[in-house]
Amino acid sequence: MLRIALVPGDGIGTEVVPEARRVLEAAAATYGIEVEVEEWDLGAERYLREGVTITEDEFTRLSANDALLMGAFGDPRVPGEEHVRDILLGLRFRLDLYVNFRPCVLLAPELSPLKRVKVPVRLEIFRENTEGMYVGMGGVFRKGTPQEVAIEEDLNSRAGVERIIRAAFEFAEARGRGRVTLVDKANAMRNAGGLWRRVFAEVGEGYPEIEQSAVYVDAMAMDLVRRPEQYEVLVTSNLFGDIISDLAAELTGGLGLAPSANIHPGRHAMFEPVHGSAPDIAGQGRANPIGAVRCVALLLDHFGHQEAAERVEQAVAAAIAEGKTTRDLGGGFSTSEVGAWLAEHVSRSGAGAT
Ligand code: NAD
Ligand code: IPM
Ligand code: MN
Repeated sequence: MLRIALVPGDGIGTEVVPEARRVLEAAAATYGIEVEVEEWDLGAERYLREGVTITEDEFTRLSANDALLMGAFGDPRVPGEEHVRDILLGLRFRLDLYVNFRPCVLLAPELSPLKRVKVPVRLEIFRENTEGMYVGMGGVFRKGTPQEVAIEEDLNSRAGVERIIRAAFEFAEARGRGRVTLVDKANAMRNAGGLWRRVFAEVGEGYPEIEQSAVYVDAMAMDLVRRPEQYEVLVTSNLFGDIISDLAAELTGGLGLAPSANIHPGRHAMFEPVHGSAPDIAGQGRANPIGAVRCVALLLDHFGHQEAAERVEQAVAAAIAEGKTTRDLGGGFSTSEVGAWLAEHVSRSGAGAT
């Protein structure tokens, strides 16, 4: 029995998560996977209503699930984004979900805004998820005066750097990927950069069959546009991973297609699309649910249900090939029409599966 907490959150999160749920339930029924799903009301509405982001008790009960499936957090009515930090970043940090895995796979050249792109493009980003510029260390001094100073510390521990680099190499080895690239800014940020490069070289020694290199993040931004097909697994810090994952998503069909997994191997797993709450299109039924649906594939894969996971990915590929998509991909379907089509495809094509 897999116990899964669904937290739709804000904006289009509330539109895409029900579609992910539909596909999850279709896959579970088809493949005989027992799931118990519970929906949670956390997000801006609740915060504005009650003045509470997440309680200790909720945190404890949420983390007792096998997996969490989140939508998105962020609402123009909460300009300080405090609920985003407490709920989303709070769970990542407090559950020590140090692997943020963000695969961006180009299914067909015409999905990319790049003119000369060749398939396959398969960028699999391992973003460090518990340290870096996100730890909130530092402070503000002389606030509101012309002499104001704001310090945001970039924390990089050897243990933290080592475990994400090792996760990237382990994944590459297990899945037969030939190349792992470290993305950093070691020329300007020598302290952190030096640590990442030393640890990358040390850990990399254990994987001599895998090609290894380090690329500065500015050059990586350029090269991902110039020749994305030459990269495979990328490993990087929290902030650089955030930025290059939006870029990689857009190069491979758009933010609407990109899923992510936040994992502490052996302990906790939380899945969420890479995109945010998209206030510009929220409430219109136009959000692409595929990023959220692909989170279901990552979830199934994580719990050893490879066949069901592949079936979900096949349904996504079929929807795209047949134009059963939302308008960001040029289709005329609404969010729920895409979800219904995908769920139906998973049920239909999986019939007879055990
Ligand atoms: P965003 O990802 O919400 O939107 C960026 C652009 O992509 C928008 O034009 C949007 O319409 C489009 N887009 C995103 N998802 C889409 C989808 N599924 N289908 C079609 N189009 C899609 O980024 P933003 O505008 O910078 O952020 C909005 C809010 O979301 C902010 O409060 C931000 O902090 C938050 N945010 C949350 C998460 C998260 O919860 N994981 C991630 C990113 C941003
Ligand atoms: C993401 C988001 C978050 C991040 C924000 C909402 C704090 O952009 O999941 O990519 O920066 O990690
Ligand atoms: Mn982001």
